[in-house]
Amino acid sequence: MNADNSQRDLIYFDNAATTPVLSEVIQEMVPYLGNYYGNPSSQHSFGFKSLRAIEEARTHVACLIGSSPSKITFTSGGTEANNLAIKGCVSRTSINGDSKSVVLISSSIEHDSVLQPINTLKALGFNVKFVEVNKEGIVKPESLLGILRKEKIILVSIMLANNEVGTIQPIKELAKITHENSDALFHCDVVQALGKIPIDVRHLDIDLLSLSSHKIYGPKGVGAIYSRDKDQLRALIDGGGQEKALRSGTENVHGIVGFGEACRIAAMNLIENYRNVKNLRDRLIDQVLSTIPRSYVNGSLNQRLPNNAHFSFPGVKGEDIIVKLNEYGVAASTGAACSSNKAKPSHVLQAMGLSLLEIEGSLRLTLGHQNTKFEVEKVVLALEEIIRELRRHSGFANN
Ligand SMILES: Cc1ncc(COP(=O)(O)O)c(C=O)c1O
Repeated sequence: MNADNSQRDLIYFDNAATTPVLSEVIQEMVPYLGNYYGNPSSQHSFGFKSLRAIEEARTHVACLIGSSPSKITFTSGGTEANNLAIKGCVSRTSINGDSKSVVLISSSIEHDSVLQPINTLKALGFNVKFVEVNKEGIVKPESLLGILRKEKIILVSIMLANNEVGTIQPIKELAKITHENSDALFHCDVVQALGKIPIDVRHLDIDLLSLSSHKIYGPKGVGAIYSRDKDQLRALIDGGGQEKALRSGTENVHGIVGFGEACRIAAMNLIENYRNVKNLRDRLIDQVLSTIPRSYVNGSLNQRLPNNAHFSFPGVKGEDIIVKLNEYGVAASTGAACSSNKAKPSHVLQAMGLSLLEIEGSLRLTLGHQNTKFEVEKVVLALEEIIRELRRHSGFANN
């Protein structure tokens, strides 16, 4: 694991925002920033070297999700993969000029990179429906079934694991309901779940799936989309026809190589990492709940990513906790990294029915396999002091 000296003593509990790049991954990437600079489309040995590296990486990515390599298309990340799945599917479908008859379904707790493309389509006149979640942050299958029975749907997009509270959706059941009751494609954003829990597209019966490298100890700015049948999508970026014309543009070779290596390592260590990170996370949750009065965990404890701990501490503001934790050398977050500097309350916690008091006092701690028991102890001690102090200032009882 690589860390700048100035960051050596800091504790990083924000692994849902991004993860440190593994040194093994960097080692694989560096030659493609140096000697191996060929354009993968070139018809000479420089080009062939880069092309071979891309195809090897494609195999590693495919292996991690039980796919064949030919179904993987590299993108600039999870955001682009989600946009391609949603907009690319809609523009591929013949709509006979009547966008109102086209219905898309998503859930109320998706990441902005799903919600925003859907909002764009909505503004263009497409009909959008959202399935609800329960208090535990789990999508209700009956809510999906209710819509599928009434409308003609072209796409259902529901994430596998939520980026804020880490809840894992019953995707196999949701995809089955979708396919049994409609001709719609089922898209799943697995950005947060990849490398943390087993994912097999054959078992889950998914049509489209979005992946990102930087959540699994790979470089930023690279990701992929799995498509069961590439004809289901229309490219968003046209040009030289790279990636079988589904995503034109000279490939980010070193990024793709890094992503492939991160996938290879994740597949090898999945079970062991799951067990270790979950043990640490459980320890963190137990200690926080037993030492900090009136603290709660948000979201299902059973259907949850192994590395996610999401708390509410009524009487304090999440942003204040983050600032104080940072002074103690601890990196944490209130929720989605991309929206954590927006003032509006989390749409995920709202959809789960949390009160404003609970939403305001929320904190997300997400662990990685680089974290240690010692760090957990330090964070719990820091949190205990911080919450006591902040509650004293706000006049909220700390018992
Ligand atoms: C669930 C989810 N989907 C998509 C994304 C976007 O991925 P990327 O940062 O690779 O664009 C994120 C990033 O936070 C995410 O958590």
